[in-house]
Amino acid sequence: MATPAREPALPIKQQATEATALTNADLTASLAGARILVVDDDDIGRQLTMDMLALRGYTVEGVADAASGRRRVQDWHPDLVLLDVVLPDQSGIALCRQLKDNPQTRLIPVILITGLTDRNSKLAGIEVGADDFLNKPMDPQELFARVQSLLRLKRFTDELENAEDVLFSLALGVEARDSYTQGHCERLANYAAALGRRLDLPEEDVLALRRAGVLHDIGKIGVPDAILRKPGGLTAEEWRVMRRHPILGEEICHPLRSLTRVLPVIRHHHEHWNGRGYPDGLEAERIPLLARILQVVDAYDALTTERPYKPAWPHRRAIDQMRREVEQQWWDPVVAREFFKLAEEQGALLGRGQT
Ligand SMILES: [Fe+2]
Repeated sequence: MATPAREPALPIKQQATEATALTNADLTASLAGARILVVDDDDIGRQLTMDMLALRGYTVEGVADAASGRRRVQDWHPDLVLLDVVLPDQSGIALCRQLKDNPQTRLIPVILITGLTDRNSKLAGIEVGADDFLNKPMDPQELFARVQSLLRLKRFTDELENAEDVLFSLALGVEARDSYTQGHCERLANYAAALGRRLDLPEEDVLALRRAGVLHDIGKIGVPDAILRKPGGLTAEEWRVMRRHPILGEEICHPLRSLTRVLPVIRHHHEHWNGRGYPDGLEAERIPLLARILQVVDAYDALTTERPYKPAWPHRRAIDQMRREVEQQWWDPVVAREFFKLAEEQGALLGRGQT
């Protein structure tokens, strides 16, 4: 008879990993040609600002009201917005809030232009997420310094986003190679995030789980199709190749600092609570918590979908099987128990029937 599954020593919340700050890289890329939108209803002031910035090599456009500003941001995708607080149709504060609330525009830096003594506008601007402030009348040196500093930051976030996009596309490409795991990444991202929320993890861990759901098997790019799609059992040598995918995945994602929290999940998503998993044979709480969460949802998804070696199992059979696996100390018992409850309560949300 299997020994009862050992309980973790610490409550889940205390096991959450420490935040790893995203540091600004040594970014020296040229900012010439960066697009700046000036939103100011004072025709002379707006033109003066535009001329100063154009002389510095920036591509500049100007509009005189908030509605035009909003449209131009959507159509032209500026790298920075200089926004007067007082506009004829809507305040610059309200427009700033809209830009910062929209996921498509929230990373565009906004500099609010306020009167020298307008303390209330500055406070409201901070509240809605303005990135910086300039006083009227504008000091050209201050304008250039602030614009340059925010554009440098914007370039950095752009590059980061591009690199992430490449990795996510690559991960989905790997999934597409394996006809049996279609939609697996997206389901896993949703399951893992839902379980992370249920375990009351901080939002950055929930985000890491979502990303890990998509990226965890990216290392399978190094596994040949003949092994990945083999219908029968694998030979010892084939297993050796297959078992390299967590390490390879970690190596692929390692250069991106924004994925620091995701790396341990990628590396350890095939460890087992009893220490008999791979690649490092970690045991119990030595397996990072986020990896233990992903393992549980990964196991459920593997059971409830068709694989080369088995048909898709119904929800009830999958849960019964996983309960046995918890007794055999494959999965963290607390995480698994919470997942079972979540699956019972939110079967529809998880995209599986309660059959
Ligand atoms: Fe995997």
